[in-house]
Amino acid sequence: MTEEVSVPTHSVPAARHWIHDVDPAMDPTALWERFYSEGEPWSGRPNPGLVGELAARPIADTARATALDLGCGTGGDAIWLAEQGWQVDAVDIAPTALARGAAGARAAGVGDRIRWACHNLDTDFPAGAWDLVTTSYLHSPVDLDRERILRRAAAAVAPGGTLIIIGHLGFPSWMTEPPPHADLPTPEEIVASLDLDGWTVIQAGAVVVPSVPSPEGEPGTRTDSVVRLQRGG
Ligand SMILES: C[S@@+](CC[C@H](N)C(=O)[O-])C[C@H]1O[C@@H](n2cnc3c(N)ncnc32)[C@H](O)[C@@H]1O
Repeated sequence: MTEEVSVPTHSVPAARHWIHDVDPAMDPTALWERFYSEGEPWSGRPNPGLVGELAARPIADTARATALDLGCGTGGDAIWLAEQGWQVDAVDIAPTALARGAAGARAAGVGDRIRWACHNLDTDFPAGAWDLVTTSYLHSPVDLDRERILRRAAAAVAPGGTLIIIGHLGFPSWMTEPPPHADLPTPEEIVASLDLDGWTVIQAGAVVVPSVPSPEGEPGTRTDSVVRLQRGG
């Protein structure tokens, strides 16, 4: 079930060229910590794919509901979810990103609704069950067993709960030399790799992100994948 939808949105920060120059064997904590220490790579706003998905098919009664955001970065999604009433656990490998997220949450008045935790999800997945488990762009230029992490993400969804996986399906239109060895699975491949039993596929499709400017300001677009599943019927 693949449907093409266009998300009207604000501009999305450009993917940077840095990913071309990374040794895949580099230590992931060192890489991401350096990445966040060297600047503010993301906008701090929630991802349009997550906002659009929850706007299109809202989850009723989020007042006491719990959410887990995997690879939360500086917390755009986590803070937005907290603003919608969720109690959020936000997890990332980079302490600098988590500290920025926590500061952003305090500034937004939702500091008490988010717990920030440092985990290398390849080796150390948080224990618990959540009503919503979400992850946006959990991609890495260094070795990352994303499939295994996503299977563990599914296992962490409470009965009746929701799993949302947003990822890149292609590179920005202005990127003439995409990085080698990039793993950008289709929505169907993601669903198949989860090897699920007793779940409902709510959405598995491509989303055109209409405004993805290059670092030099050149206009561009990008295609992302949005997968949404519900545990049970
Ligand atoms: C492309 S960024 C996306 C950040 C955020 N979700 C967003 O949409 O802006 C990927 C994030 O995954 C995190 N990450 C990469 N490898 C990780 C790992 N092994 N364990 C936990 N987080 C990881 C990075 O630190 C980074 O914040």
